Amino acid sequence: MTSFQRVKSGCGMILGAILLASVPAGDASAGFFSGLKKSKTDAFAEANPAKAKEYSEKAGAHAPAKSGECSKCHADPKDPSKRVLEKKPLCLSCHAERDADLKKAVVHYVFKEMDCDACHVPHASENPPLLSAPVNELCSNCHDTTDDAIKKSHGGVSVFEGACTACHNPHASQKPKLMVEAKEHVPFGSRSCDMCHAETKADGKAVLKSTPEETCFICHSNFRNLEAEGAVHAPVAGGGCTTCHNPHVSVRSSLIRASLDSICFNCHESWLKNNHPITRHPTAKESVSDPRREGKPFDCASCHEPHAGKFPKLTRGDFFVMCKECHKK
Ligand code: HEC
Ligand code: HEC
Ligand code: HEC
Ligand code: HEC
Ligand code: HEC
Ligand code: HEC
Ligand code: HEC
Ligand code: HEC
Ligand code: HEC
Ligand code: HEC
Ligand code: HEC
Repeated sequence: MTSFQRVKSGCGMILGAILLASVPAGDASAGFFSGLKKSKTDAFAEANPAKAKEYSEKAGAHAPAKSGECSKCHADPKDPSKRVLEKKPLCLSCHAERDADLKKAVVHYVFKEMDCDACHVPHASENPPLLSAPVNELCSNCHDTTDDAIKKSHGGVSVFEGACTACHNPHASQKPKLMVEAKEHVPFGSRSCDMCHAETKADGKAVLKSTPEETCFICHSNFRNLEAEGAVHAPVAGGGCTTCHNPHVSVRSSLIRASLDSICFNCHESWLKNNHPITRHPTAKESVSDPRREGKPFDCASCHEPHAGKFPKLTRGDFFVMCKECHKK
């Protein structure tokens, strides 16, 4: 079996960067002496057994609190207010990628001027990742979305059903207005909001033109008669383009909304995951590139037509031929 090339271009690059960026933090937790840590007890955890137990059992606990490594932050078992470093340097000491954020073209005022606890808690939270409140509530503490300037930026929308972080990075970005660093859909990037949106009504919620007829099909007219290409996949025939695509911006190639594992298995049998066409074969690995199609990630679309196809089970071709094309050696 060949060892497949990492995704090299476009959005795959961003994905790769994110994966790499998370490595230092992971390493830091494992610790240079992680082998020793396991057998050694933590003096601060011993002095605060109830709290240590509480954090170890919480799903939303911070990695070093969950593993009982309290002394990575706390300097004195008798006094929790004494810590190994000042607030912000403490957080940045393990999160090098956040330190790098401070050098970006646009740095969020709060992130630059205040401590991380303007938004995060140190131990555990029910609002991932370690947020002190649900994300939009946090943002709304300081930004009034009904305010004229901000409303104008949002095409008149003032009531949000999704997260502000679908479009904005809370820390920093190379793009103006803290837009997430990812590929923007052409009409979103050119701020042609009215290609898809009708005027916002009094309730402040986003209003869409009839989709896909008056939106997607205007520009992607080849999607109007997919029947010509074979059997049409049910959600596509139903016009549900945004089940799989983010209409604005996404870190994934082809504006895919979330990992296909999570989208596709909302409707399909979960046992298929990493278990077909042969037992235990991976079905989606975003960090691996598709051996047959350069620049695309290896996922369901490596083997299946997501929209319409002429082969049974929407496969892209004769399967045994494909099998050999991907596994040349
Ligand atoms: C990532 C750094 C970090 C780790 C790891 C950590 N703490 Fe803390 N802890 C803090 C900070 C920062 C504060 C101050 C919080 C504040 O002022 O709101 C704090 C405050 C506390 C306090 C006093 C205030 C409170 O929340 O009750 C206790 C008790 C405490 N920590 C226990 C623990 C225990 C037990 C562990 C290990 C299981 C632990 N901490 C691990 C950073 C940490
Ligand atoms: C001793 C090292 C260490 C320190 C100090 C530290 N962190 Fe972390 N933090 C980690 C590790 C390890 C992870 C898990 C990283 C991963 O899974 O990629 C993590 C994860 C996080 C996450 C993501 C949590 C999630 O659910 O995805 C946030 C947010 C975070 N830390 C904030 C902070 C803040 C705020 C501080 C300062 C109070 C801080 N960290 C201090 C090691 C540390
Ligand atoms: C304005 C609020 C805000 C401030 C200030 C802030 N964060 Fe965050 N942080 C967030 C939000 C919101 C997310 C979730 C982002 C998402 O879901 O896309 C997040 C995610 C994270 C993550 C996990 C995901 C990732 O991108 O790696 C880490 C680690 C983190 N923050 C660390 C920090 C540290 C360290 C500081 C202080 C130096 C800090 N944050 C300051 C709001 C904030
Ligand atoms: C503690 C207050 C505070 C919180 C919480 C906060 N912000 Fe901000 N934000 C500010 C301030 C202050 C500015 C800079 C002044 C301004 O331009 O309004 C700013 C600026 C911005 C900008 C414009 C940046 C630019 O380059 O013009 C965006 C976008 C933004 N914030 C989004 C968010 C999002 C999304 C959240 C929630 C994750 C959030 N903010 C949470 C205070 C906050
Ligand atoms: C290609 C079509 C398209 C374009 C162009 C477009 N949108 Fe959207 N927008 C949508 C769809 C579809 C939704 C419904 C939510 C979803 O599917 O993500 C939506 C939802 C929204 C929401 C509501 C999000 C929420 O959490 O409730 C806002 C705000 C928004 N759009 C703003 C904009 C702005 C601002 C622009 C221009 C810069 C823009 N949109 C351009 C298709 C589009
Ligand atoms: C659908 C994508 C989208 C969502 C979701 C979104 N924004 Fe924005 N936001 C934008 C765009 C686009 C701009 C304008 C960027 C530009 O001018 O190039 C903007 C601009 C802003 C600005 C700067 C306004 C100014 O003065 O120019 C702030 C602050 C802001 N958003 C906060 C928020 C907050 C808070 C939320 C969540 C309640 C949120 N955004 C949700 C797309 C979005
Ligand atoms: C105003 C015209 C316009 C509208 C309306 C429009 N698109 Fe697009 N879309 C484009 C253009 C231009 C591209 C870039 C094509 C290219 O790069 O070859 C694109 C690219 C895409 C891509 C591929 C992105 C990539 O990175 O490969 C997807 C997926 C997509 N659009 C889906 C949609 C969906 C879903 C809708 C309806 C919600 C829609 N589009 C509405 C103009 C539009
Ligand atoms: C079941 C999920 C799903 C649905 C529903 C869906 N798509 Fe896609 N779409 C994908 C995937 C996956 C890709 C990436 C294909 C690849 O890697 O070759 C894609 C790619 C695209 C592209 C990029 C160019 C191309 O043809 O490969 C466009 C444009 C596009 N879709 C438009 C649409 C439109 C318009 C609709 C609604 C009529 C739609 N999609 C519905 C999953 C979907
Ligand atoms: C909204 C629900 C929904 C989503 C999301 C969805 N599908 Fe489907 N899919 C269906 C339905 C319904 C059928 C028709 C089932 C049948 O005929 O038994 C189907 C059929 C298929 C088939 C052909 C099966 C057969 O028996 O002919 C394949 C392969 C497939 N989908 C793959 C995918 C992939 C890959 C994704 C993600 C990119 C996906 N589906 C996302 C609902 C969905
Ligand atoms: C390596 C190639 C490959 C990948 C990757 C792959 N599939 Fe398949 N899939 C197949 C083949 C081949 C079949 C047809 C098997 C058969 O004829 O029984 C199939 C069949 C299916 C079926 C129909 C099952 C049935 O019992 O009728 C569904 C649904 C499906 N795949 C979904 C997915 C989803 C969702 C993904 C991504 C998470 C995915 N596939 C990734 C090759 C693949
Ligand atoms: C679209 C490309 C593609 C097709 C078609 C494909 N594979 Fe794979 N296969 C992959 C990728 C990618 C991996 C995972 C490589 C990795 O993890 O880095 C893989 C992994 C495997 C593995 C190792 C699984 C493990 O346990 O790690 C086997 C065995 C395998 N494939 C056999 C097959 C056979 C037999 C067929 C035909 C029935 C087939 N593959 C079709 C791309 C493909």
